[in-house]
Amino acid sequence: LIWPSKSTESDHLLRLQERAMWIALKCVDLEVVVVDLNVSRIAAWNSDKLPIYEPGLDEVVKACRGRNLFFSTDVKKHVAEADIVFVSVNTPTKTRGVGAGKAADLTYWEGAARMIASVSTSSKIIVEKSTVPVKTAEAIEKVLRCNCTSASVRFDILSNPEFLAEGTAVADLANPDRVLIGGKGGPAGRAAIEELAAVYARWVPQDRILRTSLWSAELSKLTANAMLAQRISSMNSISALCETTGADVQEVAHSIGKDSRIGPKFLNASVGFGGSCFQKDILNLVYICETLGLKEVADYWHAVITMNDYQKQRFVERIITSMFNTISRKNIAIYGFAFKKDTGDTRETPAIDVCHGLVADGAHCVIYDPQVGADQVHRDLATPKFEWDHPSRGQAAIAGRDEIKVVKDPYTAAHGAHAICVLTEWDEFAHYDYQKIYDNMVKPAFIFDGRNVLDHAELRKIGFIVYALGKPLDPFL
Ligand code: UDX
Repeated sequence: LIWPSKSTESDHLLRLQERAMWIALKCVDLEVVVVDLNVSRIAAWNSDKLPIYEPGLDEVVKACRGRNLFFSTDVKKHVAEADIVFVSVNTPTKTRGVGAGKAADLTYWEGAARMIASVSTSSKIIVEKSTVPVKTAEAIEKVLRCNCTSASVRFDILSNPEFLAEGTAVADLANPDRVLIGGKGGPAGRAAIEELAAVYARWVPQDRILRTSLWSAELSKLTANAMLAQRISSMNSISALCETTGADVQEVAHSIGKDSRIGPKFLNASVGFGGSCFQKDILNLVYICETLGLKEVADYWHAVITMNDYQKQRFVERIITSMFNTISRKNIAIYGFAFKKDTGDTRETPAIDVCHGLVADGAHCVIYDPQVGADQVHRDLATPKFEWDHPSRGQAAIAGRDEIKVVKDPYTAAHGAHAICVLTEWDEFAHYDYQKIYDNMVKPAFIFDGRNVLDHAELRKIGFIVYALGKPLDPFL
């Protein structure tokens, strides 16, 4: 069982590799090899310091490594030996050419398929783990068939999209809502589906293992992420309405979430969604619709991203107008840079856009995040984004080391600051000594809570001017 991945932007792939580790934990009789061309990443998996932070992962690796879980850079050897190959390669958004900014780039996938075909001397099940545009499997199958020299080798392609979320990966692996396996019709296709289903059946109840066609499985992944992101954008749109009417978005979310048809999850208004999947998958969906001539469908889903950009921009504008229409040379402490709590991942984090917005208006940002270091922050803020990706950001200033400082504790971050912005919902943010923080800030001291995780009444008692997203505004704001 092999997981090749070749990419420099690899956090999501590492998450996919976690699935392999879970299979090793649950299936002692299977030998699982995680293969990767990246030498330092494999060395990290073989060391005490794993290449990603994920609660509970250390224990899983410790239990299986050297038993039936191995990490190797010898991709060809292990692919040749494998019965099932899970392919988790990067499928980034294309940056040039046809579909730039929306379509998925399948270069790595095609390369992996050519390599698998060239080294295979026995039949294999090829499992598509990366999120790919609908009908990728068809193309991959052609590449495999045309590049395999042995006529007796058979490839059965399955789509098995990954639904685990960062920060909760181990729990998601242990107790998934569903496992989705898409395959071809006919006896061979169905047998391949059942072979993979038998692996999952070791710990997943049968009624949660769904069997579909290849195309349904591929499209389900894009649709699931688009629907989740759409819920957040819907609540974020309502948060703007709440602020202008005096309603409370958390009360609205609670009330509608009680309707069992809506349900309570993914209704938290925020400064914006981030992460490697939501925006990329929606853009991908939009591109597929456009290429199929479904303009209205494309526009519908694109609005989810438009609303997300609006929310980040609105947050920055609120900060500027509240602080007397100028943040020039003011110090703003940023609490949280990761795209969500319990992860050090920063891809598409709303913090990037917010910091760019603040710096463009002359502010100095002092950033603290429990898991994100200075190098990462500086790299993220120095990377120009594509015009088509975030038109609203346009020519935003590329923040340098003068405007952006990264510190190792929250009290230092807020020392001498005019304001604090909460951009990630880390639990620890609720437990600081805010009296001590307030005493060392410039007055009036502002807090802009972009995640609604702080005790706002308590902060107001201390003397802070508090902006709570989607809630009745302080008269001062
Ligand atoms: C997502 C999907 O949830 C997962 O199924 C898929 O496999 C990969 O993409 P992930 O990107 O790890 O997972 O994070 P997720 O928990 O979905 O959060 C995405 C973003 O939405 C984060 O920035 C989060 O803070 C934000 N969010 C989430 C909200 O703003 N409000 C909410 O109510 C929930």
